[in-house]
Amino acid sequence: MIRVESSQGSYPVLFTGPQPLEGLGDDVLLVTDAHLAELYALPDVPTLVLPPGEQTKSLEYLGRILSWLATQRASRKSRLIAFGGGVIGDLAGFAAAVYMRGIRYVQVPTSLLAQVDSSVGGKVAVDLPEGKNLAGAFHPPSEVRIAVSYLDTLPDRQIRNGMAEVWKYVFILDPDLGDLLVEPERDWESIVRRCITLKAGVVAEDEFETKGLRATLNYGHTVGHALEALMGYEGLLHGEAISVGMVAEALLGERLGVTRAGTTEYVRESLEREGLPITHPALSRADDLLDLMRRDKKAEGGRLAFSLLTAPGRCTLVEGVEENEVRGALREV
Ligand SMILES: NC(=O)c1ccc[n+]([C@@H]2O[C@H](COP(=O)([O-])OP(=O)(O)OC[C@H]3O[C@@H](n4cnc5c(N)ncnc54)[C@H](O)[C@@H]3O)[C@@H](O)[C@H]2O)c1
Ligand SMILES: [Zn+2]
Repeated sequence: MIRVESSQGSYPVLFTGPQPLEGLGDDVLLVTDAHLAELYALPDVPTLVLPPGEQTKSLEYLGRILSWLATQRASRKSRLIAFGGGVIGDLAGFAAAVYMRGIRYVQVPTSLLAQVDSSVGGKVAVDLPEGKNLAGAFHPPSEVRIAVSYLDTLPDRQIRNGMAEVWKYVFILDPDLGDLLVEPERDWESIVRRCITLKAGVVAEDEFETKGLRATLNYGHTVGHALEALMGYEGLLHGEAISVGMVAEALLGERLGVTRAGTTEYVRESLEREGLPITHPALSRADDLLDLMRRDKKAEGGRLAFSLLTAPGRCTLVEGVEENEVRGALREV
């Protein structure tokens, strides 16, 4: 078990074996998506099944969950189970954050991305048409239950999608983790544990992203989020977008002299070997992307900010980055 410290007390991350939905107790309600509902037997509790995909992470579906909770007469004592990938986790977590000013929720992450990243740390949100995660809250789960056996049914593209975040940990914090990843047989439980331990460490130090440390988890995300928003959250998965973003931001760092020369090559090769995209045609739309990047939560007064690598395993928040440097980096990707 890993414990994650938060301002609202610590919470456990349990590696449960294949039945994490067992023994959740009374007065629970469950939110999931249609893929999971089809693949897995659900417990006999009030359940809301939503359409799969990023477009569900919206104000519209937030509203639907809230109304459903009210019709089910959920109370302050109820617990909401978020059973699914990062979309369900972020969305149901946000609903739990605002329903009756906050009820408890349990993350049961089923995608690799959710297991290594989004289920821990208490950031919950929905997307607005104007940008990713623009409405949200900090609301830590009461517990996280992980079964890596869920990964058996996860499509390969979704595995690679999660691997983008795993490589992100390698690049910003833990180059040795890279050695675990290139072994022919992947030991998922070790990989997931290692990533959660890394994330828990960062979140415990800088829960509300005020010290620049948690912002380093955003490496690749300034460009990646802009790309996702530009594509209307269709076609390109989050991990794919940040894969392209990590290459772009490595190049940007090298241009600025922040990132040690040669780091981009390491980033690019690792991601390419994983089968992740390392460039995208929409990068030519620099004006549109810059517009979106100015709305990024790290930007202040329209001044761009990026979490940039200094060397493999090290990352720092760089504020006041010149637009022309970003244009240059986008051209080079
Ligand atoms: N809160 C955070 O700290 C944080 C961190 C990283 C990412 N995120 C968010 O997470 C979201 C992406 O999460 P995601 O990649 O899990 O997307 P997702 O929830 O859409 O899941 C991806 C797809 O896999 C399917 N799926 C999930 N588990 C499955 C399983 N076990 N078997 C078969 N199919 C399965 C889903 O139905 C969906 O179609 C983004 O919105 C991103 O912004 C949040
Ligand atoms: Zn991410």
